Amino acid sequence: MVRYVDLITDAVQSGRNDDTAQSPPSAIPGSFFSRAAQTPAAKEPDSDKDIYLGLWKQLQDIKLTILERKDFDILPLKEQLRAIAGSPGVIDRLYHYTTRYGNEEDYTASHSINTMLYALKIAQQMEYAPGDLEALGLAALLHDIGMFTIPDSILRKPETLSAEETATVRRHPEIGRSVLAPWSAEMPWLAQAAFEHHELEDGSGYPRGLRGEQISEFAKIIGLASTYEAMTHERPHRRCVSVRELIDTKNRSFAPRVMRAFLEQISLYPIGSFVRLNNRTLGKVVETHAGQPLRPVVQIMEDADGNRVTDEKTVNLLGNPILWVTGAVSDEELSRIQKR
Ligand SMILES: [Fe+2]
Repeated sequence: MVRYVDLITDAVQSGRNDDTAQSPPSAIPGSFFSRAAQTPAAKEPDSDKDIYLGLWKQLQDIKLTILERKDFDILPLKEQLRAIAGSPGVIDRLYHYTTRYGNEEDYTASHSINTMLYALKIAQQMEYAPGDLEALGLAALLHDIGMFTIPDSILRKPETLSAEETATVRRHPEIGRSVLAPWSAEMPWLAQAAFEHHELEDGSGYPRGLRGEQISEFAKIIGLASTYEAMTHERPHRRCVSVRELIDTKNRSFAPRVMRAFLEQISLYPIGSFVRLNNRTLGKVVETHAGQPLRPVVQIMEDADGNRVTDEKTVNLLGNPILWVTGAVSDEELSRIQKR
């Protein structure tokens, strides 16, 4: 049986830590990045995509600053989190982008943003107050900050890591705690969540093998969100893996209360995302079912031969054993379709 701790480790091991790479997750003509490069600070974010990519840029800047061993400020991120956490509508709209970003080679920043959005959705279901949502969101955004320091030679290695290399990667929670230590007096939960996010409910996690109530609730939520994010996005050495095991009720790796909230809130394929079905048709998710993350309602947009479907035809995958989603449609494939 595959252990989640191995999956997440496997996922982070395949990553990339390129201190020179500064391209956004995908080349988006006219995006916030290209404009900001010409007139920095002259452009306020004006769309949900700009907010997402603005967070991505801020995380990349923090990464560079850490690698240069300089001080960095998290206040801008904190303020942005206040705006996001205070607006459920913004969280829901940003959530759509989690299927679009996170598959790029240098995925550490988008992994952090997606994890933040999943964590916020879980916490909304757990009825967190806006102030707690803001704190959790910031902790989630910075939970893998220790990964920024892991050398490329390890993170880009396609082969299985040696025991020594694995040990290096597994130090990232501890490194994250150290990096975030300057804010521990004001926000102790920040370093704590970074340090504990790979701990698992049954004690099989790392670095300390904590179990149950020994693990902070922020770390429990972020750990589940981070694991789910890694499983549902491609990494250089593998494609997405099934989340069926994750959502199996027999799974004991995550706290039942957190898992229940996760299953209520998270759809593997959120409304507005595009998916491919096993009969090779392509569709847009128009409705999701609580507790059924794999079986949304899909409006068919393209038939099996790639022809656009003009009449409005929807398929409810709940209770339809013949049809299922084989995967999310990539950004590249989507722009190809939209150009037709
Ligand atoms: Fe991690």
